[in-house]
Amino acid sequence: MFCSDWWGNGVTKDAKSPSKDWSELLGENEELYRRSRPKRAKFILEYLKVHCPQLKVETFHEQGAFSGKDIRHIKASVLNGFFCASDLDVGVAGYLSAQGVNALSCDAFCLPFKDSAFDLTYHSGLIICFNNEDAFLIVQEQIRTTKKIAFVFAHNDLSWVDKFASFYKTKIQKKDIFNYRRYREEELLDMASRMGLDAEIYFFDNALMNFLKRNFKRLHTVLSSFSWVNRKFLANEIVMVVRK
Ligand SMILES: C[S@@+](CC[C@H](N)C(=O)[O-])C[C@H]1O[C@@H](n2cnc3c(N)ncnc32)[C@H](O)[C@@H]1O
Repeated sequence: MFCSDWWGNGVTKDAKSPSKDWSELLGENEELYRRSRPKRAKFILEYLKVHCPQLKVETFHEQGAFSGKDIRHIKASVLNGFFCASDLDVGVAGYLSAQGVNALSCDAFCLPFKDSAFDLTYHSGLIICFNNEDAFLIVQEQIRTTKKIAFVFAHNDLSWVDKFASFYKTKIQKKDIFNYRRYREEELLDMASRMGLDAEIYFFDNALMNFLKRNFKRLHTVLSSFSWVNRKFLANEIVMVVRK
């Protein structure tokens, strides 16, 4: 299934990465990530249940996995399968390995895997570190290694709540981890069409509903039944799903 340096360090000499020290950020933010919801994992599991319950998915790969909270959640939910987490940062890969998943350090631009190596692949918070052209190359490489279904998660450019929250956390609280770019629907769809593939776009993680759930449970329950609350500009996240 894998190329020769599967257990080794698959990082190429000219690997591209943003200027952050991810190992250091992981150390500083471990508690934050430990408490945060594995929302992408939940989205993926729900998507499979609703849209393709017959699809047999046994091998999973999360790229740029960082804290690994999503792949851990998938592993705990699916139980039987092969669960792989990779990250460019060697320190992060070491952390992931200690979390009980098959971990390795490799570059998302040049993955050390054969074509169609994994049934399901995904990443979140990876392309938000790159410009459109680099993001396209990452997604192209992801699709190459995907056999059945791929998920690309990014922050939603329409979300003013997410913009305001990350401005506050970056500028006032000086937390550099919240300094990232966002994506528009057209930018993601353009990547798929350049590869000649169809894709679906979803908006999720509603900021208003998250707030109400935490602070006003009853109001949250009442509003959940109204479709108008599912506005694109209220969603923190945008996700592209590509089925092969
Ligand atoms: C924002 S974090 C991802 C957060 C993760 N989804 C989570 O919920 O914990 C971005 C990660 O991408 C990794 N990364 C950056 N450039 C990369 C590259 N070229 N190949 C693979 N991983 C890369 C970083 O090391 C970092 O761990």
